Amino acid sequence: MTGPGVAVDPIAWDPPFDWSCLFGRAGRVEVELGSGKGMFLKEAARRNSETNYLGVERAGRYYQTALERLTRADATNVRLLRADGLGVLARWVAPHSISCLHVYFPDPWPKKRHHKRRIFRPALLALALRALAPAGEFRVATDHAAYAEVIRDLFADESRFMPCPWGSDDAERLPTNYALKWERAGRPLWWARYHC
Ligand SMILES: C[S@@+](CC[C@H](N)C(=O)[O-])C[C@H]1O[C@@H](n2cnc3c(N)ncnc32)[C@H](O)[C@@H]1O
Repeated sequence: MTGPGVAVDPIAWDPPFDWSCLFGRAGRVEVELGSGKGMFLKEAARRNSETNYLGVERAGRYYQTALERLTRADATNVRLLRADGLGVLARWVAPHSISCLHVYFPDPWPKKRHHKRRIFRPALLALALRALAPAGEFRVATDHAAYAEVIRDLFADESRFMPCPWGSDDAERLPTNYALKWERAGRPLWWARYHC
């Protein structure tokens, strides 16, 4: 591994992040919440070497797997933080300082009594609007039809986000572990992009 390493130790930083210091260079910043095993981050960082990526993963074992994968890939334009995604947007991301927010295959929590655990809720959209720079983008995907409807409704209720089409063959739809898993299982996937 060259450079400062992929793992971000929050103890070493004062919020909000100074992106140039965190990445050791200036540049466009994109954030992924719920990075899982880090497949999207690895592929995005490889394809877009001029972009800086921060991944946020709450679960220790997924965080560890992603960290190992990204370190092995020698990905110098990625940082990974073990934390809650909403908390990171609220505390660590300076207003209007990122270009794109990615949330792929968020846990659907299908039981009604668990819906409050879902990451998609009005607070997420409010925090995203605070974090995104003008003309920034929010990208999302899910295999869960009912959750897709909830997410669509949340965006429809927030007039500052505008949907923009995402063709099925778009090269920017990068693989994630869950995208591949559900594709193999034959489930239809819903991908969406929203501009602010
Ligand atoms: C179903 S997995 C999808 C992982 C990856 N995005 C993919 O597509 O393969 C959802 C991930 O989001 C993480 N997660 C759930 N809620 C989170 C939160 N509030 N902040 C950060 N990560 C979260 C989970 O730990 C899990 O790794």
